[in-house]
Amino acid sequence: MPMLLNTSDYRRRARRFLPRGLFEYIDRGTEDETALTRLRASLDAITLLPAVLTGHDRRDFDTVLFGRRMAAPLVVAPTALAGLVSHDGETKLARAASRVGIPVCISTQSVTTVEAIRRGAPDALLWFQLYVWRDRALTARLLERASACGCDNLVLTVDTPVSPKREYNERNGFGIPFKPHLSSMIDVALHPGWLFGVLARYLIGEGMPTYGHYPDAFRTAITRASIAEAVRLEPRLNWDDMHWLREIWPGKLTIKGVLAVEDAEKAVEIGADGVVVSAHGGRNLDCLPAPVDCIPAIADAVNGRLTILADSGVRRGTDVLKYLALGAEAVLLGRLPLWGLAAGGEAGAEAILRMVLREMDTAMAFLGTHRVPALRDGRARQQRN
Ligand SMILES: Cc1cc2nc3c(=O)[nH]c(=O)nc-3n(C[C@H](O)[C@H](O)[C@H](O)COP(=O)(O)O)c2cc1C
Repeated sequence: MPMLLNTSDYRRRARRFLPRGLFEYIDRGTEDETALTRLRASLDAITLLPAVLTGHDRRDFDTVLFGRRMAAPLVVAPTALAGLVSHDGETKLARAASRVGIPVCISTQSVTTVEAIRRGAPDALLWFQLYVWRDRALTARLLERASACGCDNLVLTVDTPVSPKREYNERNGFGIPFKPHLSSMIDVALHPGWLFGVLARYLIGEGMPTYGHYPDAFRTAITRASIAEAVRLEPRLNWDDMHWLREIWPGKLTIKGVLAVEDAEKAVEIGADGVVVSAHGGRNLDCLPAPVDCIPAIADAVNGRLTILADSGVRRGTDVLKYLALGAEAVLLGRLPLWGLAAGGEAGAEAILRMVLREMDTAMAFLGTHRVPALRDGRARQQRN
């Protein structure tokens, strides 16, 4: 069996295991995919200047995030339909993150419900990602469920007012609820490991996998039109709605998908606890700037009044360090845990997270930095090519 020595090895393994429609849904971007290229270029252009003779032989990744101690400045990002990558994939991700000692953010669009994930991963640090549905009462009910399951940070995604234009999904016939096409059936048949290891297990157990948190009626053809409208992502969401969310949500509130300084300032004003500076992994709008170009100005402007998180494009431990050096306090990983999950289930997800941590550890040794805050304090040491 070929060795899995870096995240590209995991990606290749995931590509073999998953039907093409699902692999591309995870892997690709939007429109002409220039955002994906920009993300990589933006991270590759940053260099980190080492300090020598610092006299440390161990690195400490301990991080306090939103008042809670965790083992590393990493978070498993919310990813819709992670449960399709492996049977019960969201629970496996939660267990893997829990063993590594980092939080996992459950997506509104997960296959498995937050209650079932909590049962399967009782010790996990769970966050909940919210897409606000047009029906506010249904949205509020969903938040009550997340809170009852011990999710203590609500990650409100604000960079997805409409469905992005992903032409490959249309070509591949990939959508929810599933409408089987001949080509997608052939695609699935060509991936028997996934067919029998994932899809068939759902079909024998809980039935055709779909968005677990959506009302039952969403899945039935007769009522779908009206219910689909009720759970459509609310395109009119505005800053005033944030007061409503602050009132009904008892825990921390993080706004995901902020790139402009003005929006970070507004997040402070409405009493948010954090922001995720994110280009949504290059999946939504192809002309977005890269987070590395936005983090420093946001960090300067908010000056400690918000916890700054970042994501998009991380493929190496050094990419994480670059986001941290620019001013992020922790980094979300989207595709990497999914590739780990596809390559080796729960153990694969844990292994890829530990691999990123090992890469961070090695690079920090070279940089002469033994603690995460020291890396941030050394912001002046970060250089742009
Ligand atoms: C398959 C997939 C599904 C995603 N689903 C969601 C989602 O439901 N909600 C959300 O806020 N972000 C979602 N994201 C974006 C991630 O949370 C994160 O911002 C992005 O993946 C980070 O980039 P990276 O994949 O390069 O690490 C998704 C990303 C992927 C790859």
